[in-house]
Formats: sequence, structure tokens, C-alpha cells
Amino acid sequence: MRRTIIAGNWKMYTDTGEAKKLAQGIADHVGNRTEPVVILCPPSPMLTTVFNVIQNNPVLLGAQNVHPEPYGAFTGEVSEAMLESVGCSYVIIGHSERRILFGEKDVFLNDKALRVMTGKLTPILCIGETLKEREAEQTFNRIEQQLRDDLKGVTLKNGHDLVIAYEPVWAIGTGRTATPEQAEEVHSFIRERLVKMFGTAIADDITIQYGGSVKPDNAKDLLSQPNIDGALVGGASLKVDSFAAIIDAAG
Ligand code: 13P
Repeated sequence: MRRTIIAGNWKMYTDTGEAKKLAQGIADHVGNRTEPVVILCPPSPMLTTVFNVIQNNPVLLGAQNVHPEPYGAFTGEVSEAMLESVGCSYVIIGHSERRILFGEKDVFLNDKALRVMTGKLTPILCIGETLKEREAEQTFNRIEQQLRDDLKGVTLKNGHDLVIAYEPVWAIGTGRTATPEQAEEVHSFIRERLVKMFGTAIADDITIQYGGSVKPDNAKDLLSQPNIDGALVGGASLKVDSFAAIIDAAG
């Protein structure tokens, strides 16, 4: 069964007090509900803070980044095992901010994906085209290339072992959302590629989230598309009310 997953990417926002309050507000809103699956991805120093709030609740914890090596002299980085040990179940890989602002290349992201899959974390792999690529009609080429390169050598036993987030770079933090039809066109293309890579049964179970200016007022239309199985939310995940409304739009 394909799962609907609503994840909040808090990026480099919140302090300990805010993180606690936000996590508590979402945990209270979710209650015992297990659908949709809700994931909070706070900044690294807030992972334990958030875990302590949500540990007896269906809300899950995700990290925003991971290093491909298991340990070593990599100042500022965190390993897959470290994230597991503080209660993470998911980790975002390949966010466009990491690709563009920190120069992370597909080969490095592929190493991360392979490493994460040796442990218990599930990667949320972000892919998406820039405005320049969309205008040059390179969207599908770009998506195909990212899936091929970032998931090279990845084998899946189960469709739940991978989440894809389609995040068109031009829609992130801009207030400019892909229309449900524009997003669905790319999501169904992603599904086709996943079928080729992993077979129909597994590809059918892979959650493909949409990300890029998801708000309470556009979430329902986006999520009603057949291949849009969730949302990766930035700005609107920083307020209990707006994130709660997006969770409700999915459930
Ligand atoms: P916004 O929802 O703020 O556009 O951010 C999307 C995003 O980058 C989620 O990872």
C-alpha cells in the first residue's frame, strides 16, 4: 500500500523553545492518527528536543542531512548511525538548497543514499528542475538524470524503503506553486521511471511527495492528483495551524 506522507522541513529555523512548542502542537493535532504519516525534520540540534515530544506519538522524526561515511574527520557532519541513535526514521537527501548552495553533486548524493540504505533510515530523495531547465524544456531529462544518478546501485525490497520528493526549484520559498496538473505530469513521469528501475509492485508503493510553496489553500488540490502522495513543506510547516491544515487536507 502506498502511504501518504506529510513532512515538515524546518530548514534553519526554530530555537529549542519554539521547536518544543511546534512539535507539541503537531503531536496534539495528530493524536493517535496514523494516516497520513507525519514527519518533522528540525535542525540537527533540535532532533532530540523534538524526539522527546513525539516519541509516544505516531509523528516521526526526520533529519535534514547526512554524510555518506560512517564516521571520520568530517567536521560539522553527522552519520546515519548518529541520526538513528537520536530517534530519526527518515532523512532528506538532495534538497536543492544542498545541491545549489553547498555544491552537492549527484555522485555524492548517491553515496548518501547507498549509506542510508545500509541502516534503518529511509531517504527522502529530493529532485527537481530549475526555472531555466523548465523553460528550456529540460524538466523530464533533468528528473530522469537525477533518478538514475542518485539511485545508482540502489535495490529496494519494499516500496516503503524510499520516498521521492519532487520539488521544482522555482517553486521553493517563492510562493509560486506548480499547478496540480503541472506537478502531476512530472509525478507520473517519476512513477514510470521508478517502474523501470524497481518493477511495478515496488514502484506503486513508493510515496512521491510534492514540495514547493505548499500551503493550506493549495494542498487539497495538489494531493488529489493520482501520483501526488504527500507533501514536503517548508515555510508552512513552521506554524502549527498551517501545518495542521495541510495534514488535514491529506487525511
Ligand atoms: P517552501 O514550502 O517554503 O516553498 O519550501 C519547500 C521546501 O523546500 C521543502 O523542502
